[in-house]
Amino acid sequence: MRILVTGASGMLGSTLAIELSRNHKVYGTGNSDITLPIDYKVFDLSNESYKELIDWSQPELIIHCAAITNGNYCQENCLKAIDVNGVSVHKILNATNTTTKIIYISTDAVFSSSLHMAKEVHSVFPENIYGKSKELGEFFLNNSQDRQYTIIRTTIVGLNINKNRIGFVEWIINTALENKKLGLFTDVLFTPISIWDLVDEINFLINTDNINSETIHIGGELCTKFDFGSKLLKTLNISTENLFKRLISSFEGRAKRSNDQSLDSDFYQKKYKRDSISLDQTILKIKENYEHN
Ligand SMILES: NC(=O)c1ccc[n+]([C@@H]2O[C@H](COP(=O)([O-])OP(=O)(O)OC[C@H]3O[C@@H](n4cnc5c(N)ncnc54)[C@H](OP(=O)(O)O)[C@@H]3O)[C@@H](O)[C@H]2O)c1
Repeated sequence: MRILVTGASGMLGSTLAIELSRNHKVYGTGNSDITLPIDYKVFDLSNESYKELIDWSQPELIIHCAAITNGNYCQENCLKAIDVNGVSVHKILNATNTTTKIIYISTDAVFSSSLHMAKEVHSVFPENIYGKSKELGEFFLNNSQDRQYTIIRTTIVGLNINKNRIGFVEWIINTALENKKLGLFTDVLFTPISIWDLVDEINFLINTDNINSETIHIGGELCTKFDFGSKLLKTLNISTENLFKRLISSFEGRAKRSNDQSLDSDFYQKKYKRDSISLDQTILKIKENYEHN
């Protein structure tokens, strides 16, 4: 299958594009250059027309991973966030014909902080611009005509192939290795899944032709950010000496973000007979890939 992966210079997109290229013809795009073993094109999704991108890749499936993921930047650059994260879906729909399938990577941030273990049937209520922009992307797909799509809401953790990028996991590891104080929230819940496990699930959906115009939640086991970081460092044999517990209520200067980011993946796991993913598995996947690189 010919697959276009957007956000291929990002954490999820780069790993996804490389893994899929084992069995598919994969084209990757991002907003900056990166050397990957796939056909790759720099393309700004703020462009009005996506004709150049679609003519180049002629995709049968688009996996839309690209997004402005920095919450503070989204708050300060509302129109840009809405355009790149949300309106891009509308532009993709317009630039392709109905035979092109779409997988849209969405987020727990479409829900309000009052929801615990959010299910697909729950109403969305984003509390920040990032969440609103992703809700808009979902809206365009849900209102598309005759289109096969899947919206995957998830909370990913992993490592960046692009060593210039620092995500949550790298930040925890680097801070601990540099012997700096590392405060992690004990009052923020999430259900993290590793990018490698999510890639396996996306592969499963593609290979079994299960792009069924639906929204699904794919996440891991419930934990706090503190528990995640503590377990990660212990598993990697990195000192937790400087790790301390903190409360999100004591933290200023970040975009309003839910303190309960948990997603319930029961619907997906039961419908497609997929195993649940434990926190131990998520951490072990990170360890394997950390030691491998
Ligand atoms: N990371 C998380 O915690 C998390 C949680 C839930 C859901 N998600 C979703 O998962 C997906 C992947 O996240 P990630 O963490 O892998 O993201 P990431 O590492 O921040 O990468 C974002 C990607 O989007 C691209 N991008 C940003 N602005 C663009 C523009 N104007 N034109 C073209 N491409 C642009 C970036 O390109 P350049 O870097 O080259 O500029 C990069 O390839 C996103 O859709 C995100 O909303 C992430």
